[in-house]
Amino acid sequence: MDWGMKNRLSQLMPKGRCFFMPIDHGYFQGPTTGLEKPGETIRPLLPYVDAVFCTRGVLRAAIDPEINKPVILRVSGCTSMVGKDLANEEITTSIEEVIRVNAAAVGVSVFIGSDYEKETLKNLSDLVNVCENYGIPVMAVTAVGREMEKREARYLALCCRIAAELGARVVKTYWCEKDFDKVVRGCPVPVILAGGPKCETEREVLEFVHDGMANGAAGINLGRNVWQSPNPVAMARALRAVIHKNASVNEACELFNQTKKEKARG
Ligand code: 5RP
Repeated sequence: MDWGMKNRLSQLMPKGRCFFMPIDHGYFQGPTTGLEKPGETIRPLLPYVDAVFCTRGVLRAAIDPEINKPVILRVSGCTSMVGKDLANEEITTSIEEVIRVNAAAVGVSVFIGSDYEKETLKNLSDLVNVCENYGIPVMAVTAVGREMEKREARYLALCCRIAAELGARVVKTYWCEKDFDKVVRGCPVPVILAGGPKCETEREVLEFVHDGMANGAAGINLGRNVWQSPNPVAMARALRAVIHKNASVNEACELFNQTKKEKARG
């Protein structure tokens, strides 16, 4: 592996583990709850995360260029919640732009099993062909659009493996209760967990993240369950402990409660 690629990956994933903070949701769903002012949402969370995942538009308009965190640029899009098909994505960003904003990596969605399977896999391959020339890792996002029921091990394993075969350096996928270890084992590059819609309780989030890590995930890319929580900093701190300090679910919950109390006291 080239020095630049290694250097970027080691910044993004210290000791092979990562907590990425996605604030890219607006690229297809508009002003998402909690992300109306993405710069303000992310500021208190930055100390706890390893990288920020966003589009070039939000980066330029809302993120301080002096932040000392790597940026993963969302470079697929051109669809919306109110359009015909979320899967019909294109590559939105040139390599010149990726380099201009000093992105440490790029993220692209693939919609396997959809009408646009081939096009989105071609997006991934094209991006890998260009980004590898510059030592920029590509993160594949195995997206399911509105079909959340697709999130089971056989399908996820298929998606992760295909994305890795096409050259993704990291694959983001959903956690599943049964056989998540098989998803990870079938993928030759690190697998990281996406969040999905907000869970009922904080403990539920910490439990699925802990289980994913115990079954081989390298980290998380988890947004709504952090910044839509009434206690986003406490949540980020607790998740960081699970990812980087091997905290148990009980230890992470304790840290969550302790941080919540500290914040309430001011
Ligand atoms: C959207 C994405 C998001 O980065 C991903 O969904 C993670 O965010 P959340 O934890 O809120 O689901 O890739 O396509």
